Amino acid sequence: MVLTCLGLEGTAHSFGAGVVTSEGEVLANVWDMLSPKEGGIHPREASRHHSELGPGLIAQALQNAGLSPAEIDLIAFSRGPGLGPCLRTTATMARAIALTLSVPLVGVNHCVAHVEIGCLESGFQDPVTVYVSGGNTQIIAFAGGRYRTFGETLDIAIGNMLDTFGRAVGMRFPAGPIVERKAKSGKRFYPLPYSVKGMDLSYSGMLTAAKRLFNEGVSLEDLCFSLQETAFGMLAEIAERAIAHTKKRELLLTGGVARNNRLTEILEGVAERHDAQFHRVSPSLAGDQGAMIAWTGILQYQAGDRLDIPSSHVLPKWRTDEQDIVWRSDL
Ligand code: ATP
Ligand code: FE2
Repeated sequence: MVLTCLGLEGTAHSFGAGVVTSEGEVLANVWDMLSPKEGGIHPREASRHHSELGPGLIAQALQNAGLSPAEIDLIAFSRGPGLGPCLRTTATMARAIALTLSVPLVGVNHCVAHVEIGCLESGFQDPVTVYVSGGNTQIIAFAGGRYRTFGETLDIAIGNMLDTFGRAVGMRFPAGPIVERKAKSGKRFYPLPYSVKGMDLSYSGMLTAAKRLFNEGVSLEDLCFSLQETAFGMLAEIAERAIAHTKKRELLLTGGVARNNRLTEILEGVAERHDAQFHRVSPSLAGDQGAMIAWTGILQYQAGDRLDIPSSHVLPKWRTDEQDIVWRSDL
């Protein structure tokens, strides 16, 4: 029997609702992002955004999918990691719908969902995944029943670094795409702190250095170019080491920063050198959205994983490697 899952995403500033079938067909995927005029996101404001726009987005997703609520077989929601108020608002909506429709509820790990939607789209069986976004920078690979984090940022995420730099130089949020555009006309490379420590990396030093150079009058185009080459070079180094170490034959790029063409080009080169296949998640599935939660919810549900309402509390600090990947056999 084909199952249809409604997935709700609401870990940070975006709220999304997606409808996906057990055959992997994305029937609907709509979202809205709160983008503050200045400063970072405030968890309470973001959760208010979700509670105000959530019901409309859910109705829109059902309409786009051409389904009535009664045709939904299960509800999945982003259980963590993320901002407490946002997670709780989203979980409350998911519980209410599950109770009203009398359908099962599944709690999904947001980072795992970024990996699984990439596997669905690419058909990859067992990739090394570069997951890069505003809140996360991780190199992930499946081993021993879990998605292990082979390397990650020791301080700020790459997207956050780009956004913070952008804010300091007067760009609007999110700055990632603007940095990418400006970098294209950069000509001179300014060395910035290249900080790889074992399999981990750090972006705060280069952020400070880039802001200082901007204040000293260095051209913004050159700085964006230098920032990208250094930050992406660091990622390529640990991705390359993860592939060499695990001997996996697939390299997957996912998360909001996956929209960057230069990063894609660099990682394509890494894959080529190691005779691995490469896939970059398409823009509509790269950022935070409900389809990835719905699809991972289906995988979990089919493996027997579901939540009772009383024990469906959210997990703001849920790590990628704390979820048993019950739907994958050990490869
Ligand atoms: P998560 O909760 O997984 O950390 P998120 O809340 O940051 O995700 P995403 O939509 O996955 O949300 O990612 C947004 C980030 O992606 C922002 O930091 C933004 O600047 C960055 N980004 C978007 N497009 C580009 C681009 N073309 N180049 C670089 N960065 C980009
Ligand atoms: Fe995300």
